[in-house]
Amino acid sequence: MGVHFGVSVFFVFCLVGLSANAKVFNIGSPPGSDITKALLKAFTEACQAPTKSTVMIPKGEYKLGEIEMTGPCKAPIRIALQGTVKADGNLINGKEKWVAFRNIDGFKLNGGGVFDGEGNNAWRSNNCHKTFNCKKLPISIRFDFVTNAKIRGITSLDAKHFHINVIGAKNMTFEDVKIVAPAESPNTDGIHVGRSDGIRIINSFISTGDDCVSVGDGMKNLLVERVTCGPGHGISIGSLGRYSHEEDVSGIKIVNCTLQETDNGIRIKTWPSAACSTTASDIHFQNIILKNVTNPILIDQEYCPWNQCNKQKSSTIKLVNISFKNIRGTSGNKDAVKLLCAKGLPCTNVELGDINIKYNGADGPATFQCANVSPKLMGTQTPKACSSPLTKPAK
Ligand SMILES: *[C@@H]1O[C@H](CO)[C@@H](O)[C@H](O)[C@H]1NC(C)=O
Ligand SMILES: *[C@@H]1O[C@H](CO)[C@@H](O)[C@H](O)[C@H]1NC(C)=O
Ligand SMILES: *[C@@H]1O[C@H](CO)[C@@H](O)[C@H](O)[C@H]1NC(C)=O
Ligand SMILES: *[C@@H]1O[C@H](CO)[C@@H](O)[C@H](O)[C@H]1NC(C)=O
Repeated sequence: MGVHFGVSVFFVFCLVGLSANAKVFNIGSPPGSDITKALLKAFTEACQAPTKSTVMIPKGEYKLGEIEMTGPCKAPIRIALQGTVKADGNLINGKEKWVAFRNIDGFKLNGGGVFDGEGNNAWRSNNCHKTFNCKKLPISIRFDFVTNAKIRGITSLDAKHFHINVIGAKNMTFEDVKIVAPAESPNTDGIHVGRSDGIRIINSFISTGDDCVSVGDGMKNLLVERVTCGPGHGISIGSLGRYSHEEDVSGIKIVNCTLQETDNGIRIKTWPSAACSTTASDIHFQNIILKNVTNPILIDQEYCPWNQCNKQKSSTIKLVNISFKNIRGTSGNKDAVKLLCAKGLPCTNVELGDINIKYNGADGPATFQCANVSPKLMGTQTPKACSSPLTKPAK
């Protein structure tokens, strides 16, 4: 870690030194100070610069209030966060975000620094896991309509709500990102993406209280590769179908990931309502290692938290071309595989290959249940795959 950090700092200086026209805008504030105004000023100047520029937040700890850095900018822009920025730990007053990047084309965020959301007080005031109509807490980092972007080597710590939320992105990569919050922190999803085309999340570590990566409606072409999740709630496509005006999801690839001590492993969840009729297709999970994961493989088309929907209604989200291949490890409960597709709209073209999930609990062995789906089976299946598909599993 120390070596890696040293190398990346060296690399940043080289880039600044060598790149003839990358002008550097330093926030110029001493450590310990509140840099909200200085950062906004540096960003605004950099954004107006006619050539490539860098906004530099040097090493040290700073306070940072709510901030929106909005383009379009005249040239590509980079934010080098080398220090740690800390949110106001007492702020629990219904704001929707802490740091937002908006409408920027050609964006880099790197530098090895930390966004510390100071979420402790907020988690204790959060009642969203108990009440539907709850007070909003700020998302730590929002990327709204950011295109051709690379976010690399930054850490998000203790977000009050989601750590990172992405909407309207095109061609955006997250690499070597670290996300950390306690397992018991509510609603602290790691990275939520939706309504975007072309996002890659690579070689990252996400340990948090809610979903590791969650995928909302309208997401097209997402690659999640070499990501380690846990604790948390695993990798989730959805929930889908709660609202009208939702868009299709397609081209989701989750490969070479490890889930450890998560509630849920890899899942697709849709609401049992007819708010919208969209299709989620071409969703592939491959080479996934599970370590003591509860509900490792789950398709749940009757997702209905807080019992605020009618489970008798069928989901109108069509699931097509889904695969789970080479998924292995240990389950924390006996429900190793559950494919519960919609009554009125069976899942089509679901493939499972080389599933090897063990459960060692006293109520074992592990089970594999299917409803409204006839999966195509390849390779080994442990536990034994649903012998009579298209029937509701016995409860
Ligand atoms: C995607 O964005 C990166 C910057 O992160 C850029 O270098 C690359 O050219 C972009 N790719 C396309 C196809 O525009
Ligand atoms: C996943 O890992 C395997 C084995 O380590 C490697 O051969 C493969 O190229 C990787 N796949 C992707 C998409 O990274
Ligand atoms: C598995 O996780 C559960 C909590 O979900 C924990 O109680 C149990 O000790 C873990 N088992 C192993 C073998 O690590
Ligand atoms: C599902 O896959 C088949 C065969 O690869 C393809 O023809 C079809 O268009 C796909 N359906 C969707 C909705 O992506």
